[in-house]
Amino acid sequence: MTEDQRRSRKRKRGKSHKKKKTAVASPDGGAATTSLPVSASSNKSSLKSSFLDKMRARLSGGHFRMINEKLYTCTGDEALDYFKEDPALFNVYHAGYQEQMSHWPEQPNDIIIKWIKDHIPSLVVADFGCGDARLARSVKNKVFSIDLVSNDPSVIACDMSNTPLETSSIDVAVFCLSLMGINFPNYLKEAHRVLKPHGWLLIAEVKSRFDPTTGGADPNKFVKAICELGFTCQSKDFSNKMFLLFYFKKKEKLNARKLIEWPELKPCLYKRR
Ligand SMILES: C[S@@+](CC[C@H](N)C(=O)[O-])C[C@H]1O[C@@H](n2cnc3c(N)ncnc32)[C@H](O)[C@@H]1O
Repeated sequence: MTEDQRRSRKRKRGKSHKKKKTAVASPDGGAATTSLPVSASSNKSSLKSSFLDKMRARLSGGHFRMINEKLYTCTGDEALDYFKEDPALFNVYHAGYQEQMSHWPEQPNDIIIKWIKDHIPSLVVADFGCGDARLARSVKNKVFSIDLVSNDPSVIACDMSNTPLETSSIDVAVFCLSLMGINFPNYLKEAHRVLKPHGWLLIAEVKSRFDPTTGGADPNKFVKAICELGFTCQSKDFSNKMFLLFYFKKKEKLNARKLIEWPELKPCLYKRR
């Protein structure tokens, strides 16, 4: 082998140890260029799997937002049919919902749980749109948990505008971020039916749905409509940055005759993170 051939071989060997450029996902999902030593195959495969994890998270986030939008733009019975066709969508929705909620400094469910704990445990509660039924697991009270899908035998699967609960059997009706369907007044009528006289109606809703400057409802019109249905407003709490709380008491028989002017509640569309 000539001196020239020896030098050329050495150069080639040296090159194969140099770093090689490859593309991985940047935190915002765009492709970024970074350098990897070719010999670090374990690093490379862990980057590949973190890239795949990010892509999976992005896809399931998109899927969550699609289901969420569907629930806010259809009626309760359409939502029930939607999940009946594919109950797995309910889990996709709730995984995405939990992810969104993990960014909220305070959970409305926790405030409602505290309210229930501060009252006598003999109060019978109905949790309309219970999600993972955390409320029922957190208090001593008898709780009827209601949602469109039941992953847990204790949850009653139905459209909450038409529940199997007995008339005048409930002390506290809870709607925690669950006035999703475009026919939400029917859910409140159902709560009125199942509540005992002077029973409580607690509502927590996303603040942006009640911001008239961005197309949201006027909270006073919302309160007025519920009062016309047959409740009195006991208190309101607008102090939280993310959600509003309304506390009503059942006043009288359902006002079936008077035409109530319900404000429209715009969908709560979660941002891509
Ligand atoms: C945003 S999640 C809130 C879940 C729970 N209340 C919480 O605070 O964690 C709203 C829930 O209401 C349920 N829901 C929406 N419309 C419903 C309906 N018509 N009947 C029963 N459940 C409904 C959804 O399936 C979902 O689980």
